[in-house]
Amino acid sequence: MNIEGDRLETFLAGRVTVVHGDLTRQSVDAIVNAANSSLLGGGGVDGAIHHAGGPEILAACREIRRTQYPQGLPTGEAVITTGGQLPARFVIHTVGPVKGAHGEEDPVYLASCYRRSLEVARENGLRSIAFPAISTGIFGYPREEAAVVASRTIAEFLASDGTITEVRLVFFSRSDAEAFLQNQVFPAQG
Ligand code: APR
Repeated sequence: MNIEGDRLETFLAGRVTVVHGDLTRQSVDAIVNAANSSLLGGGGVDGAIHHAGGPEILAACREIRRTQYPQGLPTGEAVITTGGQLPARFVIHTVGPVKGAHGEEDPVYLASCYRRSLEVARENGLRSIAFPAISTGIFGYPREEAAVVASRTIAEFLASDGTITEVRLVFFSRSDAEAFLQNQVFPAQG
């Protein structure tokens, strides 16, 4: 595996790449953090990002809490901070749904995480973005269902967007990447 991981598959004429690797190693404009509403760090990919990116990221998150979201970042919303010491220039923090916490609305909130993160990237003139499998770890979202929501939402966004040239879906485990590839619903390659 090279430093940015193994490219397993591409979709949408190469605009989307599925990678088996470490999100914190991705050299893209922004990586997406599967945060919690406090924005003050946690385990999983959140912990890895703060550990690798350093204290600047947490300081920026604290400032966002102070100035924009004193009650915490709502599920499905997204905000952007510096990438600190990461290879990525920025981190886009989003809060995925805890499976079962929103009843039938879980997929709606998960789709919002992907859509709002892509919108924030576009609003900031970014060209490349890398996602983890939001909510499929500590938040317990089944990875098969999440794959359908993520791929459908990303495809819908890219169909009407010309600015974002690269979306990476980065899976820490090979089995998670395989589960995604088995369940994704990207349009068939032309
Ligand atoms: N690179 C890529 N993917 C990773 C990495 C990494 N370095 N570390 C973990 N992952 C994967 C997990 O294996 C999982 O598939 O990211 C996916 C999301 O898992 P979590 O990080 O547990 O995120 P989530 O399920 O959204 O739960 C969020 O966990 O870390 C806390 O503060 C966070 O409370 C929040 C909750």
